[in-house]
Amino acid sequence: MSSTASDAANPTSIGRPVPSAPAPRTSRPGLIAAYRALNRNPITAFSERAYNEPIVSLIRPGRALLVSDPEAIEHILVHNAGNYRKSRQQQRRLQPALGSGLLTSEGEVWRSTRRLAAPLFSPAAVGHLFDDMAAATRQMAMRWQTAIAPDQAVDLAAEFQRLTYEIVSRTIFSGALDQDRAQIHAHMAIYFDTLGRIDLSSFFDLPEWWPSATKVKARTSLRTFRSVVDTVVKGRLEGSDGSAVSGDLLDRLMHASDPTSGRKLDADAIADNVLTFLAAGHETTGNALAWIFYLMGLDPASEARTRTEIDEVIGDGPVSREALDRLTFTKAVIDEAMRLYPPAPFIGREALASDEVAGHQVRKGSQLVISPWIVHRHRLLWDDPDQFRPERFLSEAAKTIPRSAFLPFGLGPRICIGQRFALQEILTVLAILVPRFRVRLADPAAVEPLARITLQPARGVAAYVTPIKACREAPSGTAARSYPEAEAGRLSY
Ligand code: HEM
Repeated sequence: MSSTASDAANPTSIGRPVPSAPAPRTSRPGLIAAYRALNRNPITAFSERAYNEPIVSLIRPGRALLVSDPEAIEHILVHNAGNYRKSRQQQRRLQPALGSGLLTSEGEVWRSTRRLAAPLFSPAAVGHLFDDMAAATRQMAMRWQTAIAPDQAVDLAAEFQRLTYEIVSRTIFSGALDQDRAQIHAHMAIYFDTLGRIDLSSFFDLPEWWPSATKVKARTSLRTFRSVVDTVVKGRLEGSDGSAVSGDLLDRLMHASDPTSGRKLDADAIADNVLTFLAAGHETTGNALAWIFYLMGLDPASEARTRTEIDEVIGDGPVSREALDRLTFTKAVIDEAMRLYPPAPFIGREALASDEVAGHQVRKGSQLVISPWIVHRHRLLWDDPDQFRPERFLSEAAKTIPRSAFLPFGLGPRICIGQRFALQEILTVLAILVPRFRVRLADPAAVEPLARITLQPARGVAAYVTPIKACREAPSGTAARSYPEAEAGRLSY
């Protein structure tokens, strides 16, 4: 593999602090040490070999492989994707909550649901959601301006979890969850945190261990949020909640049909997918935002350059969706932050039949791990892999980065369907917050990445947020949103 994204001569990297990451182990851990590390924080289990070699066996050779070679990744996720399914153990943990939703289904159910859901995430459909994203962000900005003293540290990770949950629930339900929002959010967090804990054990052929007290807590949480969502879906289907067609994602799912088979989703499948969008859509994006502000806090020059770009492109007027496309450096900051802290740090697959991957024999049933955390910091793929250098994504060399060497949203047929939604959301949040607040990290040394299903800051990101420009009152995004095709009652795709 040749070196890519070279930017070694860039003087701006001099003097920048190295962002927090666990030091790779000098030798491979034994079974018990590996299990402990996986349970505590899987990214601490990797040795130097993982960061230096294209393919590494995990525990038992041939049964579990860590694959970081771009061609091998393309083979698994794109060219021979039909031979690989999502890991059964991983799916078993998520299926009780997400059922036959897009993230957890396989085969024809997945194909049909993907075709049916694709129009919900088209550029035009996501563009329509901009007002909701901006309104929720302005509301948060108003709160920061009016309710947070300059000497009071806030936890950016918690703030952005709350914001992205607000955005995804507004865009899915048009606020129908208003009363239960905080409760549902808390229960979802308990459930997914519990399940995410030893998510990787299957890849390392380790025993499944899950304390029953936690299991009971997770089950209670699942029952609570599932029943609220089922009630909302049922109410909307029966038209008994009195809400007009609002054109939100729930309406669109209810009216969508698979263009090939004509299949429509029943109530259970609608709820499964709504929950999938809620679960897949907020924690990932919330963590991405926390890491972006952490990295800008470490590197005031990049923060200043982002602010200057946003000021130049947007000026004093309101942020528009079209303006987001012109924020070139800001996009490079987002890419670089998702390179260093990929919000989904592990992509797992299981071989349906034997195969050969970059010269390695893969047996039927083998577990393959593609870790954006490892691939994005791989010594054969990146110069100064542990440094925050947004400019690398603007350089000529960036054009030669193989698509499988930078894959925060995955690759191939199962690539993230919400990628456009997430990027528009993150750009909207940055375009509104960066010109209005100076963010200073309270204790950068305390920030530490922790891998669960998502990659989160272990103890949050404490920061002081100081207003530098006044925020205006937020218009209501849901009211401001207009869906001509919904109003005309034409909602089949
Ligand atoms: C920064 C934010 C996000 C990141 C980094 C991210 C990452 C990913 C990745 C890596 C996958 C592929 C997993 C695999 O191949 O096993 C995926 C799948 C998926 N994501 Fe995202 N995601 C983000 C935001 C969102 C949002 C906002 C939504 C929805 C509103 C969403 C919905 C989904 C769904 C439904 C799938 C399953 C797609 C399928 O299997 O067909 N994601 N995501």
